[in-house]
Amino acid sequence: MSEHCADEGGPLAGRHIVLGLAGGVACYKAAELARELTRAGASVQVVMTEAACRFITPVTMQALSGRAVFTSQWDERAPDRMAHIGLTRGADAVVVAPASADFIAQLAQGRAAELLALLCLARPAQVPLVVAPAMNREMWAHPATQRNVAQIRADGAAVLGPAAGAQACGEVGEGRMLEPDELRDELVALFQPKLLAARRVLVTAGPTFEAIDPVRGITNRSSGKMGFAVARAAAEAGAAVTLVAGPVALATPRGVTRIDVDSAEQMLAAVLPLAPSHDVFVATAAVADWRPAARAEEKIKKDGSGATPTLAFVENPDILATVARLPEAERPWCVGFAAESHDVLRHARAKRLRKGVPLIVANHGPSTFGRDDNALVLVDAEGERELPHGAKITLARALVAEIAARLPRAAGRGP
Ligand code: CTP
Repeated sequence: MSEHCADEGGPLAGRHIVLGLAGGVACYKAAELARELTRAGASVQVVMTEAACRFITPVTMQALSGRAVFTSQWDERAPDRMAHIGLTRGADAVVVAPASADFIAQLAQGRAAELLALLCLARPAQVPLVVAPAMNREMWAHPATQRNVAQIRADGAAVLGPAAGAQACGEVGEGRMLEPDELRDELVALFQPKLLAARRVLVTAGPTFEAIDPVRGITNRSSGKMGFAVARAAAEAGAAVTLVAGPVALATPRGVTRIDVDSAEQMLAAVLPLAPSHDVFVATAAVADWRPAARAEEKIKKDGSGATPTLAFVENPDILATVARLPEAERPWCVGFAAESHDVLRHARAKRLRKGVPLIVANHGPSTFGRDDNALVLVDAEGERELPHGAKITLARALVAEIAARLPRAAGRGP
């Protein structure tokens, strides 16, 4: 779910990031990362170790970050030659990507042989240290490295990755640095206020698929993007998130537990046992209203006469209304979505009352299917409130803030 081009101002606007490069082939990815971070609105100060300069030149990193690169603690540009102090004061995060096995060992031991390790040590405690390891799979698996990683985690560093896959050395395994867009998203998440810390959020997303026979079925054009954005935003806000998804081709947001289903009945069967253990239920799924009354066991064939089959339908269960009717002790705080083609507000208000939920999020459905942007109106007992048009992830973050603000007042259970 790439967002950088659709998010006005950029999700990292106003953030200052010190991007450190230790030695490793993955330095080529750090070039793209510098670009991703600046495109997301951050100012980026690159610091490179001597080894990193063997893999990529400071000139490249300077061009991409728009700032002269620091490589030495004796740099004459730093006031009083104290680059390790000056560079981290005012920083919002120090990100070491790639972090080599040796660099992680230095961090674990609190050594400071070069400027980058020195500034990691000298950074103020409130400036987060984010480390993206990149190394050969045997180096990563080595007990010494694992010991060092455990140590830096215990010291408060956020270790992102590594991922598994083909490595530059020709071997296959765990040790690849995360991709630049994944690291950018992680940083965006890091800076989100933890409004739902210790809360559990259940989300439905996507369309449902109602089978006619083993190869055919009825579905709708919901892409699932809004629901996945809500799941991601809730996870970024510190919630434990369970996402029950209809058939969609979307990557699971980081840290989210995903359950895949096809039909409305399967979605209800997945949701119902989970609902009582969640504080919030956000129903974004475009659940099919009807399903074929009978599913043919075998593919329905043409009989050559030109006759067409007739389908009989039965109504699907209303998942949101079912959860909203649970006894109070088992009922999460419920949020519904209403995608309407006309009279959006009138229908949304009626739907809120009919489903018995405190909050309905209305939008102009058909025109937003599959898009990355949207416009939403929140309808609750007190009236309406519009969330300005924007990227779905930006709207999802705003919605999470609205939910968090309403939660303490809600009749629902706390964590
Ligand atoms: N919903 C649900 N189960 C259903 C139908 C809808 O959980 N069987 C939820 C949706 O996820 C959404 C809300 O109810 O949060 C409203 O969905 P929508 O399709 O707009 O409403 P319907 O009840 O289907 O009403 P209509 O189709 O008449 O507009």
